[in-house]
Amino acid sequence: MAALLALFLFLSAAISAAALEGYSLIKLSSYLTPTSNSWVSHSGTFAFGFHNTEDGYIVCIFCAGFKERTVVWTANRENPIVPDNVVLLLTEDGLVLQRSDSHDIISRIDNSSQPIAGAEMHDNGNFVLYNSNHSVIWQSFDHPTDSLLPGQRLPPGGMLLSRASETDIKTGIFRLRMQYDANLVLYYVYGLDTAIDAYYSTNTYGHGNVTLNLENDGHLYLFDGFSVVLNLTTQGNHIIGTIYLARLDWDGILRLYSRSLQQEDSWKSIWSVTEDKCLPKGLCGINSYCTYKDEDADCRCLPGFGFAHEGEWSAGCTTNFRVDCRDTYLSRKYEMTSVRNVTWEDNYYSASRGLTEERCKQGCLDDCNCIVAFFKDGECRKQKLPLSYGKFSVNATDMAFVRKHFRGFTVAIFLTGSTGQRKGLTDLQKYVISGVLLGILGLLILSVTIYYTRRQRGWCNQGLDKFVLKHGSLAPKRYSYNEIKKITKSFSEKLGQGGYGVVYKGKLPDGQLVAVKVLKKTHDNAEEFVNEVASISRTSHVNIVNLLGFCYERNKKALVYEFMPNKSLDKFIYKSKSADPNCSLGWKKMYDIAVGVARGLEYLHRGCNTRIIHFDIKPQNILLDEDFCPKISDFGLAKLCMKKQSIISMLGTRGTIGYIAPEVFSRNFGVVSHKSDVYSYGIMLLRMAETRTTVETKSSQSSEHYFLEEIYEHVLVQNEKIHDLMTKEEEEVIRKMLMVGFWCTQTAPLDRPSMNSVVDMLQGNLQSIQVPPMPFLLSSPKPHFSCSLPLIVETHSSSYGLISHY
Ligand SMILES: *[C@@H]1O[C@H](CO)[C@@H](O)[C@H](O)[C@H]1NC(C)=O
Ligand SMILES: *[C@@H]1O[C@H](CO)[C@@H](O)[C@H](O)[C@H]1NC(C)=O
Ligand SMILES: *[C@@H]1O[C@H](CO)[C@@H](O)[C@H](O)[C@H]1NC(C)=O
Ligand SMILES: *[C@@H]1O[C@H](CO)[C@@H](O)[C@H](O)[C@H]1NC(C)=O
Repeated sequence: MAALLALFLFLSAAISAAALEGYSLIKLSSYLTPTSNSWVSHSGTFAFGFHNTEDGYIVCIFCAGFKERTVVWTANRENPIVPDNVVLLLTEDGLVLQRSDSHDIISRIDNSSQPIAGAEMHDNGNFVLYNSNHSVIWQSFDHPTDSLLPGQRLPPGGMLLSRASETDIKTGIFRLRMQYDANLVLYYVYGLDTAIDAYYSTNTYGHGNVTLNLENDGHLYLFDGFSVVLNLTTQGNHIIGTIYLARLDWDGILRLYSRSLQQEDSWKSIWSVTEDKCLPKGLCGINSYCTYKDEDADCRCLPGFGFAHEGEWSAGCTTNFRVDCRDTYLSRKYEMTSVRNVTWEDNYYSASRGLTEERCKQGCLDDCNCIVAFFKDGECRKQKLPLSYGKFSVNATDMAFVRKHFRGFTVAIFLTGSTGQRKGLTDLQKYVISGVLLGILGLLILSVTIYYTRRQRGWCNQGLDKFVLKHGSLAPKRYSYNEIKKITKSFSEKLGQGGYGVVYKGKLPDGQLVAVKVLKKTHDNAEEFVNEVASISRTSHVNIVNLLGFCYERNKKALVYEFMPNKSLDKFIYKSKSADPNCSLGWKKMYDIAVGVARGLEYLHRGCNTRIIHFDIKPQNILLDEDFCPKISDFGLAKLCMKKQSIISMLGTRGTIGYIAPEVFSRNFGVVSHKSDVYSYGIMLLRMAETRTTVETKSSQSSEHYFLEEIYEHVLVQNEKIHDLMTKEEEEVIRKMLMVGFWCTQTAPLDRPSMNSVVDMLQGNLQSIQVPPMPFLLSSPKPHFSCSLPLIVETHSSSYGLISHY
């Protein structure tokens, strides 16, 4: 009897234990080990516990009950692998990982600030921690990794990060962001979350706080709290026994999966943001492009390049190819190979129209700076390396010419894609070579890491690392403050002083002259600074000043630019103090400068995926190189904006009155946009033309406005001769500049031409330009638009002012 009773007690204890294990409420002091059972939800659909991956154990939530484990959430995503001898313990102070031998706490899973009373693995896949009032104090749904489950929402500011590969759970290179601007956007992670790095967007701007939601009928949609903003998938597919899962996959594509709870079933993708596997930017790293192999993506290197890391697409392709500009036999040593039907990120430094393919090719061959030239619709664009975001498209008519050593002499790095080369090596040789190379590489990386970690205390922002990763060795060079001191000989030769700092002359170790701008403001926002540096370094155009390097050390920030021996345009056009009476530019030079600046601005406004609005176009910011080629400088107010959204918030503005468009002061004049730059450019053009006109003004105390009004009346309307001694040619050019100048300064932004048409007008026929109406603001003198005192309006600008005023 006693034996029976004992058996009964034992059985019931076992049953209740089993029931408890299967049940979801988890009490304090409960624990898990890598080899023990997991905490399973009530119905057994989801479980919380350890999972053995190739690299070691991770703590995660996975779908229980299937043979293969589908991980839907991972703890400590940045560093998920845990040692084998750990215990996961639920304590009042947190859900912690302890070493099983020493009880040392390795890490904490949650970050709740309140004492914990219990936990529960819910049937929807949410793991929840409660306080003693049974209120939720932490839940896994608030910290998504790469997946979204029915009932889970991605709030404004929330994001999903892809995993590194199908099997590698660590973070990968793609990000889905539910932005505060109500837009759901997919980005390449190592970019800076600007339009240039985005490859998918719902374009749902202008709603309030929008969330991404998944329901248990597979309905994936954007919701603003009141109504559905966008249906990504349809609703009403609720099938009992079917579960859904939205995941940002390792290949950068957001997909919706479903499967039944049947053991033998598997996940099926029922929806994805795109069918184009090559769409995700950065899937193929720099100097490689994405093409299709059957339905799948396949990355290929540019001709003459090899994969930086075999099998790792995102690492891109490299070459040790260098073109020596002093070499006079350039064109004989190289040839151009062509890559057809591939589009790239537009980042050219020079563009010319009306060329044939052959002349484009030859032009690049003869230019030692040119590694690649793109040819499309008669336009030839020269680019430097690296090339980003290459993508094959059958419909693309783009043609890329790539410089290559003559007679097919290509240099492949390490054991690269060229299979012929690899066949010659035995496995042993391969191992030895890769061993040695890896060893050297390892040592290099180690020493570089040590060097940098030593030097960069206080430098804790990831931004720069990402930046360098993205831009590779072609990123502007980073200098230490000591190096900057050496370059400028302890700041001995001052070139000028601008709104944001002092500019010094300097000399790099290789003898190149530079201008170093030491920024005086100490914003402690590294990210902002990096953004600024990135936005300049991404621009590469003959008419835009070239950033060579920068310095960032706690409170010390400096930017290193190429040196411009002929200073800035204001020396040549003002009829005022800053003008040097001994300096005068011929009308031809003046015209070339006008066209050059227009081209540079056109490039900023339209040339690349991101629109940059300069906001501070004025003669002081137009620098002149030794050939008087104009270069736009000072991106102090550059704001990157999405193509679709060229309306900028003007929280911090600064500029010299006179060149600033009226809408920047008052919204009554219209919306601030790239047309505001057009206005500033117009004023500059008028000033430039003005220096060539010597129309005798009839009013003795003539103000600028009367002067412009008179020019307008006499020259444009009555078609009087500007100056008796002027040649016909000069007269025509000056007239053109005046016409365009008056067009650009129209009061309403919409009436002003785009920079694109400005370039066309300046280069086209004078007869084809209509006489513009007299700009209202220029016709009547208004004291606050007076130009005699270049007044600096400086508010809480969040930008770093870059080089200017010297
Ligand atoms: C927990 O982490 C999230 C971000 O992952 C953060 O928003 C939240 O403030 C943190 N909570 C506490 C109490 O630190
Ligand atoms: C969005 O949410 C934030 C914080 O919850 C709130 O302060 C803000 O007013 C909301 N904005 C709108 C437009 O609802
Ligand atoms: C979303 O779909 C539902 C029906 O499935 C429809 O009633 C609703 O109008 C749709 N909303 C939008 C914004 O398309
Ligand atoms: C590439 O583009 C050209 C047009 O420039 C077209 O004729 C050709 O068929 C395309 N090639 C491929 C492989 O799609």
